Amino acid sequence: MKLFIYYSLSGNGDIIADKMKELGYDLRKVNAKSLKKNNFWNIFKGGFLAGIGAKAKLIDYNNDISNYDEICIGSPIWNGKFSCPINTVLAKTNLDNKNIKFILYSGSGEAKKAIKKINKKYPNAQIIVLKEPKKYNEELEKINGGF
Ligand SMILES: Cc1cc2nc3c(=O)[nH]c(=O)nc-3n(C[C@H](O)[C@H](O)[C@H](O)COP(=O)(O)O)c2cc1C
Repeated sequence: MKLFIYYSLSGNGDIIADKMKELGYDLRKVNAKSLKKNNFWNIFKGGFLAGIGAKAKLIDYNNDISNYDEICIGSPIWNGKFSCPINTVLAKTNLDNKNIKFILYSGSGEAKKAIKKINKKYPNAQIIVLKEPKKYNEELEKINGGF
């Protein structure tokens, strides 16, 4: 069984989730208390908080993944790093002995710092980075059945 745990502030993650559902993943969308709107102040605040590795408070997060052997984690890139809600997911979810994958989505299509962290903490994890699939639908083709 495969599970896609993800966060999305402005809908890119949701488009990816639709694709993951088609590929047979169960979905678990994370709700966070932090940012509600994608305005300038929030981008500034979220970017700062992500930059220092802050964890957002999650609403009703279920960290029971015992039914799944594969966990794919989806995070927007904030200030080059994981979004604050996904920092919390990574802290609260025991991924030991799971097949781990990451899908990162960003405005630039890059995610260097997050990739560095993944390589250090989860050296066996597979990673793909998409450039805002809401705008660039063809980016979804990077996720295929084999992933
Ligand atoms: C707080 C904040 C910080 C961001 N920082 C970056 C960044 O450093 N690099 C980048 O390429 N995109 C950055 N973005 C853009 C998002 O990563 C991109 O729009 C992503 O696809 C959003 O996913 P979502 O729509 O599922 O929330 C940032 C967006 C927000 C809200």
